[in-house]
Amino acid sequence: MSDLLTITLAAGKGTRMKSKLPKVLHKVLGKSMVQHVLDTASNLDPSLNITVIGYKGEEVKENTEGDIKFVEQKEQLGTGHAVMQAREYLKEFDGTVLVLYGDTPLLTEETLNRLVKDHQNKEAAVTILTAKLDDPSGYGRIVRDEIGNVLGIVEDKDTTQDQAKIKEINTGICCFNSRLLLKALDSLDTDNAQGEYYLTDVAGILAKEGKVVSAMLTDNYKETIGVNSRRHLAKAEKVLQQRVCEYHMDSGVTIIDPQSTYIDTKVKIGQDTIIYPFTFIEGETEIKEDVIVGPQSRIVDSVIGNKVEIESSTIVGSEIGDRTVVGPYAYLRPGNKIGQGVKIGDFVEVKNSQIGNESKVPHLSYIGDTTIGRRTNVGAGTITANYDGENKHRTVIGDDVFIGSDSTLIAPIRIGDRSVSGAGSVITKDVKEGETVIGVPAKPKE
Ligand code: UD1
Ligand code: CA
Repeated sequence: MSDLLTITLAAGKGTRMKSKLPKVLHKVLGKSMVQHVLDTASNLDPSLNITVIGYKGEEVKENTEGDIKFVEQKEQLGTGHAVMQAREYLKEFDGTVLVLYGDTPLLTEETLNRLVKDHQNKEAAVTILTAKLDDPSGYGRIVRDEIGNVLGIVEDKDTTQDQAKIKEINTGICCFNSRLLLKALDSLDTDNAQGEYYLTDVAGILAKEGKVVSAMLTDNYKETIGVNSRRHLAKAEKVLQQRVCEYHMDSGVTIIDPQSTYIDTKVKIGQDTIIYPFTFIEGETEIKEDVIVGPQSRIVDSVIGNKVEIESSTIVGSEIGDRTVVGPYAYLRPGNKIGQGVKIGDFVEVKNSQIGNESKVPHLSYIGDTTIGRRTNVGAGTITANYDGENKHRTVIGDDVFIGSDSTLIAPIRIGDRSVSGAGSVITKDVKEGETVIGVPAKPKE
C-alpha cells in the first residue's frame, strides 16, 4: 500500500486561453496537458489518483485515460475549493497528499519523487515546490522571515509592492500531510483580491500553527511552467519538443535540427535513424533502424521498417516494409501495408492498399483499395478508379505485372500475373494471366 495520494486540479476554464476547449485539454506534443500530468502522477504509484473536474467536466473525463477517480467541482471557487471536493477521500486516507495542477504538463517523475521524499523525510506539514524567476509576475510569491522560514504564499494580485519583488515563486506543486490539510481546508476563506478559496493559504495557516512549512527549490524551473495562455502553451511545446529530441539523440538517433523536428511523446525510433529538418512524427508511430526521414515529412500512427527512406511525404496509418523508398511528395493514407524494397515515387497517393515486395509505383498515380503482388511495375499516371459514385471497389493486380503509363483500371477488377497493359489503356474487364491488353476500352492484343 502506497501512502501517497495525488490530486490533480483540472476544473478551471482557463479564461486566458480564449478557447472553447477546457484549458487542460489543450495539447502539448500531441498529448493533452492534463494527461501529461496524470501519466506522471501514475508513475509515482499513488494509492489513489484523484482528478477534480468542473468546467466542461464530461469532456475532460472522456478525453483522459488511466486509473483515475474523478470528483466534480460544480462552481470554480478557487484551488482550495477544488481540493475541498476530494474531502471524502481525504478523510479515509492517512499519508502524503500531492497536489498537482492540470496546466503544468512538463513536470517530471524525478522532481515529484524528490519532492515527496523531501516532504516525508522532514515530516513536514506542507512542502512547496518553488522556483526562482527573473520575472515572477503572475505567480504566487514565497514569503519568508529573516531567518528564511516560510511564512506563507501571497498571490500575485494580493502582493504588496515589496512582496511583488520576491523572485521565489510557488510552482503550484505541493505536498501535504493529509490530516493537517483536511483541518486547514476548514479555515480557508475568500478574503482576497480574487474572492476565491486559495489552496496556497494553507501554507500560511499551518505556519501560524507552528507546523513545519518547507519549500524545495527546483533547479529546473522550465519543468514547472504553468500554462495560462497560448503564449505559454507555445513555450511548453518548445521545452517538451527539445526534451523528446534529446531523449532520442541520447538513444542513438541523429536529428539534424531539433528545433524544427516534432516528435510526439509515444513515438519509438530505432538506432542510426536520421531525421532531417521540418519533420513531424506523431501518434503511435514506430520507426525502426537506419531509416532516413525528411526533410519535410509527416508520419502519423505508422510503422516504418528498417532502412526505409522517406522524403517530403505524408504517411498516415500505414505499415512500410524494410528498404522501401517513399517520395518525394507521396501521400499514404490510412490502411496501407507496403512490402519490402517497394518504391512509392513522386506525386503518388496510396490508400487502403497492399503492395507486395519489390513492386514499384514510381510516378503520378492514385492507388486506392488495391492489392498489388510482387515485382509489379505500375506505369506513370496510372489510376485505380475505385469509386463508382456510390460504392468503393477493389482492384487486384498480380505478380510481375506491367501496367503501361496512364492506364485507368475500373474497379472491381482483377489483373492476372505477368500480364501487360499498353500505355493509355482503360481497363474495364478482368485481364488473364500473361495476357496483353491495349486500347479504350482495353482488349486483348491480337
Ligand atoms: C496558481 C497558484 C499560484 C501559483 C500558480 C503556478 C493558487 C491560488 N495560486 O495560480 O500561487 O504560482 O498556480 O502556476 O493556487 N482550478 C480548479 N478549480 C478552481 C480553480 C482552479 O480546478 O476553482 C485548477 C485549474 O484548472 C488549473 C489549476 O487549478 O489547472 C491552477 O489554476 P489557475 O487559475 O491556473 O491558477 P494560477 O492563477 O495560475
Ligand atoms: Ca496556472
